[in-house]
Amino acid sequence: MEVDQVTNVMEFEAIAKKKLPKMIYEYYASGAEDEWTLKENRSAFSRILFRPRILIDVTNIDMSTTILGLKVSMPIMIAPTAMQKMAHPEGEFAIARAASSASTIMTLSSWGNSSIEEVASTGPGLRFFQLYVYKDRNVVINLVKRAEKAGYKAIALTVDTPRLGRREADFKNRFNMPPHLTLKNFEGMDIGKFDKNADSGLTKYVAGLVDRSLSWKDIAWLKTITHLPILVKGVVTAEDAKIAVQTGASGIIVSNHGARQLDYVPATIMALEEVVQAVQGKIPVFLDGGVRRGTDVFKALALGASGIFVGRPIIWSLAADGEAGVSKALQSLREEFELTMALSGCRSLKEIMRRHVAAPWDRAQITPRL
Ligand code: GLV
Repeated sequence: MEVDQVTNVMEFEAIAKKKLPKMIYEYYASGAEDEWTLKENRSAFSRILFRPRILIDVTNIDMSTTILGLKVSMPIMIAPTAMQKMAHPEGEFAIARAASSASTIMTLSSWGNSSIEEVASTGPGLRFFQLYVYKDRNVVINLVKRAEKAGYKAIALTVDTPRLGRREADFKNRFNMPPHLTLKNFEGMDIGKFDKNADSGLTKYVAGLVDRSLSWKDIAWLKTITHLPILVKGVVTAEDAKIAVQTGASGIIVSNHGARQLDYVPATIMALEEVVQAVQGKIPVFLDGGVRRGTDVFKALALGASGIFVGRPIIWSLAADGEAGVSKALQSLREEFELTMALSGCRSLKEIMRRHVAAPWDRAQITPRL
């Protein structure tokens, strides 16, 4: 298939797979261990069905919303993914430009092949910065201060990675970054490359540098070093959602790290409602994981998400066609979501209600018994 024949975001993957070296394709594609959660992140969406309302004037559909007070054109945002120049030479730049053209938010990874400042210099745009907490807190202070200075609007703190999940493809391929690339945020700090002799360069990097002692008290510490809102990324239970609220998080991203960390955690769409109920509207809840269709976006919003983040499809579209590919992926999700709203009888995000979907766990209550 050629790029101009792509009709949905999933079709970018086959093109990317053909273009990319196996080690790089498999780094992005793989999940942890048995990859049960990887499949479940997708298949769980198919167990949620619609209860559309009919005969509503849907001439005008408004998908715009605000995320942490920032106006965006749609509730579809870009998740942080690492090392984007492995996918395409324009890497983070292409994604930043496409996000900005689509009037949505890009989240830059701590492990970008482009720096905080370089991405900011691509032009105006709403950006979040994803943070890994290093044992050396000076590294964290440096990153956070730079993100603030460069105009990033929030910190997405990854909390599911005290150690890297076991991605067996990376072991088999002896995954490492191509030698011409670095983790650009750490230039001059001697922590911008992986050990070439490791089974998986990233696993060894995380084991050596990322702080496994990270705990809730560190969120309180983070709040002392930045005025930026903190989104806790990686919550999948009500228990942790409640602590996140108490700790002063500004939002929660229900995420299982694209199924790359603990295998056999539920699909994020299955965990979402539990988190939403625990939070009781005190802070916004976002969903990350498995979104490939506009219908998925609608389902997440109906179950209480304020917005969603999309990861791998952005990488595949980047690999397939650079900035144009990413723009096309965002446009495709936007059009599908708009159509889903129209066919469900919803003209604005406020009109998307819980009763517009039936989940397996509530069928007994809202679908009449036969
Ligand atoms: C990076 O965050 C990864 O999961 O590989």
